Amino acid sequence: MKKFLLFAVITFSLTACVDKDPQDPGVEYASQMYHSLPYDPYSQIDPNSYNADGLNMRLPVPGTVSRQQNGEDLSIEMSLNYPFAKDSLEYAAKVLKNPLSMSDTSVMSQGKDLYIKYCQHCHGEAGDGQGPVAKKYGGVANLKSVADKTEGHIYHVITMGKGRMWAHGSQILPKDRWKIVTYVNTLRGYTPPAN
Ligand code: HEC
Repeated sequence: MKKFLLFAVITFSLTACVDKDPQDPGVEYASQMYHSLPYDPYSQIDPNSYNADGLNMRLPVPGTVSRQQNGEDLSIEMSLNYPFAKDSLEYAAKVLKNPLSMSDTSVMSQGKDLYIKYCQHCHGEAGDGQGPVAKKYGGVANLKSVADKTEGHIYHVITMGKGRMWAHGSQILPKDRWKIVTYVNTLRGYTPPAN
């Protein structure tokens, strides 16, 4: 019996080495370690018997707006390329500089539109923290409380969130965040230093 086992092991190891096709994984022991039993969205070994189209990952609903524009993946620009961690607010506040100017009227009016869409329901039209959602939210910051903070501070808070405020980095493009920052200057009573 021992001899037979030894023979089997040697033959097996030798034959394993002479495998010709480098793409062939050979015998898969415990194949469940390679292919999970539950359906995996990014793996498609067999047709999925539950979904009518046989796919694991469902197709986006018709009319879904692509995150790619002119070949640029906006989702990457929005979230992954932001270089500061949430808790590096102090550092980000110093380093980030607003490329836009309050004297640009088109920036200001677009910034206001974006503020109405993304911020006003909580922070209120005047930025006093009295938006309709604020009552349900148990209090929202009055933007006057950050009158002395840099524009980078506001940009970081919009991107990563702060305390009970959620991050908006995955929803608002960087250039639109700066427009909001520029408009919010008027609400918080901040005048950028002249360069
Ligand atoms: C769902 C409600 C909500 C929305 C939407 C919201 N905020 Fe806030 N925001 C808060 C709350 C709550 C705080 C207080 C956070 C804390 O310190 O816990 C806050 C705090 C802030 C602060 C003060 C940060 C600091 O350093 O104290 C700024 C600036 C700010 N928000 C700007 C914005 C801007 C700009 C938008 C729109 C892009 C926005 N917020 C959207 C709820 C909201």
